[in-house]
Amino acid sequence: CRVRHYKFNVVMKNSSRLCSTKPIVTVNGRFPGPTLTAREGDTVLVKVVNHVKYNVSIHWHGIRQLRTGWADGPAYITQCPIQPGQSYVYNFTITGQRGTLLWHAHILWLRATVHGAIVILPKRGVPYPFPKPDKEVVVVLAEYWKADTEAVINQAQKSGLAPNVSDAHTINGLPGPVSNCSTQHAFKLSVNAGKSYMLRIINAALNEELFFKIAGHKLTVVEVDATYVKPFKTDTIVIAPGQTTNVLLTADKASGKYLMAASPFMDAPIAVDNATATATLHYSGTLSSSPTTLTSPPPQNATSIAENFTNSLRSLNSKKFPAKVPLTVDHPLFITAGLGINPCPSCKAGNGSRVVASMNNVTFIMPTTALLQAHYFKIKGVFTTDFPSNPPFAFNYTSTTPPANLGTINGTKLYRLPYNSTVQLVLQDTGIIAPENHPIHLHGFNFFAVGRGLGNFNPKKDPKKFNLLDPVERNTVSVPSGGWTAIRFLADNPGVWFMHCHLEVHTTWGLKMAFLVDNGKGPNESILPPPSDLPKC
Ligand code: C2O
Repeated sequence: CRVRHYKFNVVMKNSSRLCSTKPIVTVNGRFPGPTLTAREGDTVLVKVVNHVKYNVSIHWHGIRQLRTGWADGPAYITQCPIQPGQSYVYNFTITGQRGTLLWHAHILWLRATVHGAIVILPKRGVPYPFPKPDKEVVVVLAEYWKADTEAVINQAQKSGLAPNVSDAHTINGLPGPVSNCSTQHAFKLSVNAGKSYMLRIINAALNEELFFKIAGHKLTVVEVDATYVKPFKTDTIVIAPGQTTNVLLTADKASGKYLMAASPFMDAPIAVDNATATATLHYSGTLSSSPTTLTSPPPQNATSIAENFTNSLRSLNSKKFPAKVPLTVDHPLFITAGLGINPCPSCKAGNGSRVVASMNNVTFIMPTTALLQAHYFKIKGVFTTDFPSNPPFAFNYTSTTPPANLGTINGTKLYRLPYNSTVQLVLQDTGIIAPENHPIHLHGFNFFAVGRGLGNFNPKKDPKKFNLLDPVERNTVSVPSGGWTAIRFLADNPGVWFMHCHLEVHTTWGLKMAFLVDNGKGPNESILPPPSDLPKC
């Protein structure tokens, strides 16, 4: 194992896409940002230097951060942000993980352009549990706005309404030929006939789940969220913001050009977005002028494709990589997740109300001191530990005519978990404004997705169908629109761990909470002391 040093300079850079140019926030001037490469067991030190006018923090999405919550990155949860002109060294060790993850800014909407891949190779000499590909390629999917993204969300917060949808999607930073002037702005993946490739696909979009497919080629899924899965073949993958998917691809044609497409999956009636990003798979020896074999993206509401894909995911559960599913549950929680409307006298539109979001009817209010610091240094009055284990009362969650008395309450409420307790969360989507998919991300842990279904969760019948043998293990799971997902995890990581919808607009609106995993007494059970350069609020 070795120590890897990285320097991330957060700088403005002009970006020309979609016939217009605007300054964007980047790491080292790149969009997407640099790939962070390490091996399982390595220690990684990333010095982040803030050269822009915004406060900044970076999250290493999916890295377990065992006892190193100070390096997790969500602003005001585990650290105060890095202020303009300041720097902070994120210092963490990669323990028991290998695969693809992503890093991204975790403050404001900076994630739109401040993101990149994390590639964790297995320990030296340890093979993949599948045939070694001839080549590996990172494929980062994202969204692009012609307007400044901070202006987009600020405007929406003033009005109380939803922000504008993005103008395009991108594949490795490029939208593809979606407008006259962007013909040349397409990612090209050059392949040799007969060779095999592993694509490390990342959804770094702010607000959209995506379908991804390649004309004429099947994809074999081998890993999600840096955990191995039982390999299966598919035409189309479904990937939510924050999720990662490794697929094997064999260049089994003699020659030609084949379209790659990333298109929105929106299982909700309230947003419309027709933008599809395209790129090409280009066999060597094929003239650039030769025609491209096309593929059409699935319809935006192709729920059955999405659910089939999700239900095909299983942990590898081999001798080397057993699925350690908690078989007993110390903390059974039932958490509703969804949108609602609350009064907002100062909102310019929306009839004096604003869209909010909540979990168990609590709209999470961001503190002004980092929660982990407040916990570690015993600062009073920053948070409470009364996050409810159930909604205030039972109702027909998936009905679009919910009970009237369902205004949310505001709070910075945490749920306390003793170290090493086992937890089951049933996450239930609500249809209060409209049902919508929610990709829920838990920091600090991997969890097992033991069940999912449409409609209201049935506590008598549904648990009997849970998969406790080989459920997929991941860090971000979609709660289906008008349905539920059940997850289990072992609370073996002391600290304060954020859980939120990875659609950034829903996080902005309050669809978030945090777990406080108590310090125990043994040496492995408490968080390490904070580094001396930890930013101050
Ligand atoms: Cu990838 Cu809290 O986020």
